[in-house]
Amino acid sequence: MSDEAPPPAHQLASVSSSNDESSSSTAQKARFSDRVRIRSILGRPDGGAGLAGQKVRISGWVKTGREQGKGAFAFLEVNDGSCPANLQVMVDASVSDLSRLIATGTCVTVDGCLKIPPEGKGTKQKVELSVVEVVDVGTVDTATYPIPKTKLTLERLREFPHLRSRTNSISAIARIRHALAIATHKFFDEEGFLYIQTPIITTSDCEGAGEMFQVTTLINHTEKLERDLIENPPPTEADVEAARAIVKARGEAVAQLKAAKASKEEITASVAELNEAKVSLARTEERSRLKPGLPKADDGKIDYSQDFFGRQAFLTVSGQLQVETYACGLSDVYTFGPTFRAENSHTSRHLAEFWMVEPELAFADLEDDMNCAEAYVRYMCKWLLEKRYDDMELMAKNFDKGCIDRLKLVASTPFGRLTYTKAIEVLEEAVAKGKKFENPVEWGIDLASEHERYLTEVVFQKPLIVYNYPKGIKAFYMRLNDDGKTVAAMDVLVPKVGELIGGSQREERIDVIMERIEEMGLPVEPYEWYLDLRRYGTAKHSGFGLGFERMVLFATGMDNIRDVIPFPRYPGRADL
Ligand code: 4AD
Ligand code: MG
Repeated sequence: MSDEAPPPAHQLASVSSSNDESSSSTAQKARFSDRVRIRSILGRPDGGAGLAGQKVRISGWVKTGREQGKGAFAFLEVNDGSCPANLQVMVDASVSDLSRLIATGTCVTVDGCLKIPPEGKGTKQKVELSVVEVVDVGTVDTATYPIPKTKLTLERLREFPHLRSRTNSISAIARIRHALAIATHKFFDEEGFLYIQTPIITTSDCEGAGEMFQVTTLINHTEKLERDLIENPPPTEADVEAARAIVKARGEAVAQLKAAKASKEEITASVAELNEAKVSLARTEERSRLKPGLPKADDGKIDYSQDFFGRQAFLTVSGQLQVETYACGLSDVYTFGPTFRAENSHTSRHLAEFWMVEPELAFADLEDDMNCAEAYVRYMCKWLLEKRYDDMELMAKNFDKGCIDRLKLVASTPFGRLTYTKAIEVLEEAVAKGKKFENPVEWGIDLASEHERYLTEVVFQKPLIVYNYPKGIKAFYMRLNDDGKTVAAMDVLVPKVGELIGGSQREERIDVIMERIEEMGLPVEPYEWYLDLRRYGTAKHSGFGLGFERMVLFATGMDNIRDVIPFPRYPGRADL
């Protein structure tokens, strides 16, 4: 190929909207830009060698740059985020001032000719770009640029959420995260589920755990009012009295004019003055009642009827209750959106804002629910192996040697399944044999992360579904089993992460669910609409929630959930 005559310099690679970049004999131009994505060059099975001789324009950020041959030319490793690999770019000193190109972080757009690199330099590159023209440069102040060539720790990178997408690890995670989101929509679409957007602002607490962030404008309004009261002090009682006296005097004036049978014009003018005084009095009285602080009702509690929504509102902890309304009408649905929990958790598995995928299946019981969860997780694993193998290789090399094997195992092996009661027995046996847990094990406890990970990592060594939990530790909406002690709940536990999914069959019997709400001391009123689903055409139904960041953790083998979401929010931190 390389001995073919190169096309004229002005002829850049042809435009194509095809996604199948590997089979084409010409480099594919990005459809909405005049550059070629580096992935469409290096991501081909031949590593781009088949494109040698072609003219292309590429853009990206310099990972490393070095001048060679005593300043005669420079090599740049350029990455545009489309794939983990960098394109090697060779610039001759006759083409450009090399010193402004080589700093890590510099942004370049260059036109050049793809070439097979000379052999014997130990290079892995199948193709490199020999630059004909430097089109654009975004220079970098090397003295202050915080993402240097040398590796920063992930903790340190969290200090630069606006720049960390330029690193190999964070960009690979972003591509994997994207692939998992696409796989999610593909899976549910193929299975006939409808994607429903549930509200982010809600007035019901799905989990009944009281871990919600409140949404209110009362605080800003109160602050504004307090500033205003300082600038324009409210009227005193004397001011109100004076305004009343004016109303009284003008009232008397009107009466006198009427008694004296004054002209119509005179009376009309006097009445107008009286009305003006009344308006002024009302305004004065209203302002005199303004007090600093949040508005209070007669019982001394905050008066939420004055809040934006006329009642207390929160950020949702889960879209489940709302998506159930669509499941009980459209059969199979799912929601995928941000959820918020105001728990003061500082662990590597918790965020205050995280994304959840929540399918809801009508006419499905707990076993159907488990089958759906298992099929979905396995679909995502297969998808990643097919679509993002290069990024998975990067994760395996840099973070977790076993992550690819784990995906393969999950894609090919059925999940273990056991009841909560059996899980407790297994843990108790382990304790009897000398295994030490920080949290005691007995029937009725909520499994701690250490228990979950022991079961999935040590005992089963694969994903595991634990089901039929004690009702006392689970939410009110879970279906009561015939034993009266357990509910039809299930958690999917996976190695490295512990709980990945929580779900259940829903209680469809109106009398049983009312009893459960009462038993748990929850108010009935906010759930009336939810109970209507049971009152009118109730249906057997089930669903689950998959913590999306936990799935990214599991897939990538990363250790901290703060590194698998672009902008992590946790206690004390909400950057950007
Ligand atoms: O088990 P959870 O609380 O279940 C629900 O919210 C149900 N309403 C879901 C449903 O049935 N539709 O949360 C579901 C999953 C957990 O298994 C976990 O993976 C993830 O959400 N999760 C969190 N992820 C990150 N940070 C947090 N603070 C999380 N809390 C839960
Ligand atoms: Mg849970």
